[in-house]
Amino acid sequence: MSAFLPHGGTLVNRVAEGQERDALLAKAADLVSIPVNTWTISDLDLIGVGAFSPLTGFMNEDDYLSVVNNIRLSNGTIWSIPITLALTDDQAATLSIGQQAALVGENDGVVYAVINVESIYKVNKHHEAVQIFKTDDIEHPGVVKLFDRPDNYLGGSIQVLNRPVPEKFNEFYFDPSETRRLFAEKGWKTVVGFQTRNPVHRAHEYIQKAAMEIVDGLFLNPLVGETKSDDVPANVRMKSYLALLENYYPTDRAFLGVFPAAMRYAGPREAIFHALVRKNYGCTHFIVGRDHAGVGDYYGTYEAQDLLKTFAVEELGITPLYFEHSFFCTKCGNMASSKTCPHDKEHHLTLSGTKVRALLRDGICPPPEFSRPEVAAILIEGMAEASKTYVI
Ligand code: ADX
Repeated sequence: MSAFLPHGGTLVNRVAEGQERDALLAKAADLVSIPVNTWTISDLDLIGVGAFSPLTGFMNEDDYLSVVNNIRLSNGTIWSIPITLALTDDQAATLSIGQQAALVGENDGVVYAVINVESIYKVNKHHEAVQIFKTDDIEHPGVVKLFDRPDNYLGGSIQVLNRPVPEKFNEFYFDPSETRRLFAEKGWKTVVGFQTRNPVHRAHEYIQKAAMEIVDGLFLNPLVGETKSDDVPANVRMKSYLALLENYYPTDRAFLGVFPAAMRYAGPREAIFHALVRKNYGCTHFIVGRDHAGVGDYYGTYEAQDLLKTFAVEELGITPLYFEHSFFCTKCGNMASSKTCPHDKEHHLTLSGTKVRALLRDGICPPPEFSRPEVAAILIEGMAEASKTYVI
């Protein structure tokens, strides 16, 4: 196990096994059943395996209000994103405090968990949106998701009875207890976590490798849960990560494992959440670059860094590594940022997402200074296979 403690001090385990699981499954058949979607199934599973430690369930009203208003749980522990279970008025009316309910997959009928009904409360979603996303604009992908949900929340600890089964890339799913063990086995005392919802381009690679110069290992931890429809699908990204690692990273210093969470696009708030979760997976450091977890123009380039910096590293329990906007400089002849490059912008290779998309759609590789050819080839193939437009 990593010498570094999970958030809150203990790695939560709410996955029922053996006789306890059998008994709960039998009981669940008689409980009120609440249908849950893929997003909630991913949340409950991540709670179950301790990725969201110290959470043991969906947030009760006290924790929810405290997180929304103060970026802390009601006991003072830093936490930035509400992890909540929404209920319709009709569903809320069937429940009372003190009972249990079964959380059942809306598409597959699988009983994923039982929840102890501890708190049922109505929320102000407008307030939540402004606090978490800094906007109530329904063009924001996180805000629209929030506004689509009912406004009753059910809080309570859970026990997971069945785990979602990945469709693909099963071998890259690791629970926090496993990554902690694996990092220790590799002898890594310091591990930097890298969050991404995109293919790894040269700028990503540059900041990862800059971090790798000062830590023992890299945990490349792409988010593969729900993302907005124009993000590159996880399956295509996974192929591109594997090609990149195979060709450009030392195998004993980089480790690929997925983060099966939904993307919130909450910028600064999500950067804190991403850091705390990687701490639970056993990371000691976490990369935060430009516009982390941002979307459109909702957040300033360094707003995520600025919010994280308001918390003491000792209290976060993981050290953020901050990086400036990085690019290839043709005059320097290497990757750089304004911290290391004295040249004018005209020498900096920066490609807009739209431009990169257009190139890939036409089957043209972006310059190797922007994207490794092996990565570009996989993205071109992925793009040809799907009729969707991807944001790269
Ligand atoms: S995110 O939504 O998962 O944050 P993305 O996959 O693009 O989006 O970014 C992953 C990480 O790399 C984030 O920490 C982000 O800030 C950082 N990053 C992305 N592009 C750059 C860049 N050009 N320069 C510096 N940091 C970057």
